[in-house]
Amino acid sequence: MSSTIRYLSAGDVSDLLPPIAEIVDVTEECLRQHGEGHTRMPPKVDLGPGGDNFLHAMPAAVGIGGGGDTALGMKWVAGYPGNTAKGIPYVNGVIVLNDPDDGRVVAVMDANVITAKRTGACTAVTARHMADPNSEVMTIIGCGVQGRSNIEALLAVFPDTERMLCYDIDVERQAQFADFVSTTHAIAAIVPPDPQECTEGAHVIVTAGPISKDPKPVIEPNWLQTGTLCVALDFDGYFTPASFDRADRFITDDLTQYASYKAAGYFGQISKEPDSDLGAIVAGKAPGRPEGSPIVLAANLGLGILDVALANAVWRRAESENRGTVLPA
Ligand SMILES: NC(=O)c1ccc[n+]([C@@H]2O[C@H](COP(=O)([O-])OP(=O)(O)OC[C@H]3O[C@@H](n4cnc5c(N)ncnc54)[C@H](O)[C@@H]3O)[C@@H](O)[C@H]2O)c1
Repeated sequence: MSSTIRYLSAGDVSDLLPPIAEIVDVTEECLRQHGEGHTRMPPKVDLGPGGDNFLHAMPAAVGIGGGGDTALGMKWVAGYPGNTAKGIPYVNGVIVLNDPDDGRVVAVMDANVITAKRTGACTAVTARHMADPNSEVMTIIGCGVQGRSNIEALLAVFPDTERMLCYDIDVERQAQFADFVSTTHAIAAIVPPDPQECTEGAHVIVTAGPISKDPKPVIEPNWLQTGTLCVALDFDGYFTPASFDRADRFITDDLTQYASYKAAGYFGQISKEPDSDLGAIVAGKAPGRPEGSPIVLAANLGLGILDVALANAVWRRAESENRGTVLPA
């Protein structure tokens, strides 16, 4: 039997991805499988060459033991904070998918769009379970790739959002982002001059600045109104240790991965431990949003299972429509 590998460029992946509402549903189903034990996902292996640069191997399998469609593969992804100033994406990588029956590589695809979409979708699922259902003011800090994909996914879950506040240290990027949001999503986009004003009145706050082992966080607990969901994609980069302590509920997207990052030197100033993870919450094995007006802080660190599940959906569509480039194995 002759083998081939389907290569899908960033453009192919963008064309083949389902609409955002469907991506959020695929993400939620994958998290439910994770909570029910139908996945395998060892913590990321980091071969980063130093500083705050990372280079991760993220092997993952979804749908193990009767949990639905099986997806098996690995994301190989770099994050270099200095790239932004050079006009190169911060995060770059590929996803390799394997046939679960015989182990052959069946596809190699660009990972950048999938990383952006799955992270936004994971925020949206977090918000579906842990935010005030009447949330209508969203804050984005860090107006880059993640800023765009996170606001898109949040609006899919909160279509009645009234306004978005955004902040970036680069005022030009901040203004461009606000223009993009108001024209693409037709909601009011405000550009406060500092992070404190940007958090005032927010129901959901997403931070997507740089990740560092030596962070300089600024968001203090008294900036947060009660009932707010905080989603930290940049780990402890923006929320101070006091904000972590103030949270009525501290969750993460995977407890094992949180412990692994902590052992590697991240979250060095955070003594509070997460109460539960998102898979357990979605599967109904851990409590969702507490009663009243809690402050919830979610440190979502990024899950390989979400990458391979979405990559699998993209590859299946590419197979049925014969898209991308077919290479000899
Ligand atoms: N947790 C996850 O699942 C996940 C997934 C992908 C990326 N990330 C992380 O999200 C972050 C953003 O990634 P991206 O691809 O959007 O990068 P990006 O370069 O596209 O955007 C980052 C933005 O942050 C801005 N910025 C830098 N320092 C800032 C500060 N102190 N305050 C406010 N803004 C600041 C930059 O000007 C830029 O606009 C990175 O830390 C990345 O590692 C997390």
